[in-house]
Amino acid sequence: MKTEKTITGDVDPDVLAYTVGDDPVLDMALVRWDCLGTAAHVTMLSEMPVDPPVVTKEEAARVRAALASVVADETFVVREQDQDVHMAVETRLTEMLGDLGKKIHTGRSRNDQVAVDVRLHIKDQLLGLGAEVCDLASVLVAFGKAHDRVPMVGRTHLQPAMPSSVGVWATGHAEMILDQTANLEAAYKMNDACPLGSAAGYGVPLPLDRQRTSDLLGFARPLHNVFGASMGRGEDEAALLSALAQLMAVLSRLAEDMILFSMPEFGYFTLPRAYCTGSSIMPQKYNPDVLELVRSKTAQVLGLATASLSMLHAMPGGYNRDLQDCKGLYMKGLAITRTTLRILAKFVQGMGVDEAKLRAGFIPGVFATDVALRKVAAGTPWREAYHQVRDNLEALAAEDPDAAVAAKSHAGATAGLDYDLYETRIAELTATVVVRKTAFEGTLEKLFN
Ligand code: ARG
Repeated sequence: MKTEKTITGDVDPDVLAYTVGDDPVLDMALVRWDCLGTAAHVTMLSEMPVDPPVVTKEEAARVRAALASVVADETFVVREQDQDVHMAVETRLTEMLGDLGKKIHTGRSRNDQVAVDVRLHIKDQLLGLGAEVCDLASVLVAFGKAHDRVPMVGRTHLQPAMPSSVGVWATGHAEMILDQTANLEAAYKMNDACPLGSAAGYGVPLPLDRQRTSDLLGFARPLHNVFGASMGRGEDEAALLSALAQLMAVLSRLAEDMILFSMPEFGYFTLPRAYCTGSSIMPQKYNPDVLELVRSKTAQVLGLATASLSMLHAMPGGYNRDLQDCKGLYMKGLAITRTTLRILAKFVQGMGVDEAKLRAGFIPGVFATDVALRKVAAGTPWREAYHQVRDNLEALAAEDPDAAVAAKSHAGATAGLDYDLYETRIAELTATVVVRKTAFEGTLEKLFN
């Protein structure tokens, strides 16, 4: 039988290809994180109170230097025969350091190794995404502020409902996005725990200092139970994908509003022509393809979240190879969500407002509730006022939309938007991201030195 040589034995080529799957490509995103995880592990091994030492401090320093050179090496690739980044790095270290390279996997399994890689990668990605969430929210708030009191028909069931404003529309979407940071924060906290030292999921008979590796890698804490740590793989990615799915659903509603209100029939907003695409047959077309793709990409992220949970729910405890397939799911989810945040920020920034079209939308019915409330102010009970207006709808007249916008001054309404509140909230979130990112990078930088 024809087989292929791997670090873990000779394998049928088709079996190798099927089990390796997309790892050689996907794992390239994990090279840096894998090397950092190994640097922390080897440092801890060199400090372990065993005689003779597994690796000496001097050897650990040589391993860390070699790992740093792997990270810097742009030609480093994961090949199919390596199976994954973990074995590719071990092979490279053995080429560079001889027998010392063969010691780095002592007391470790690829199971805790990949789990660490993924968590470091997710942490880095979530910090980047956090900054992008703040950017989009602040672009929306700025758009709202620039067109704060511009009247815009408020709709329910898509039907004209009540006087509203561009400020309310834009900051409403910003607030929905900012509220999603609660889910992202939950995913961040769940992710910020170190599985290293759980090995295959059952620990090892060596005095590993799991708190030490967790600290070296800048995690908030080690995951305690070794079996739990192995099952955290997949759960962590699923929690992330669920948060991303909810965020995408919010972004999709924003995109849908932008498509609708930039249709010529509404014409409230104008989209920069350079952000729209044309038709090969209809010369007049400027289509909002980007915004349509936000919808379809949202559907994909919902699918990725569902796929990750479906994968998990029937899996027995402990490591199973199914978990490898979670990698592509979470990476794709992050990539889609992050590009969507960036492209939407660009779109909102470029969007124009047609005040005449917005005002033209104010048909008399839009003022019906305001009319009834004026009757209440004059002493009529609400339900009576409501019926008086409803029974005489034809008597409603067009009113001044600007006056209607100015009349609602309570918190959060057309004349009561607190922009400082949004700006403070965004500034606080941005500061949190910067502080975390700086601490994370500072900790990791020390590892290679
Ligand atoms: N590439 C594998 C993964 O992502 C690494 C772990 C392999 N572990 C194992 N027991 N086969 O899951």
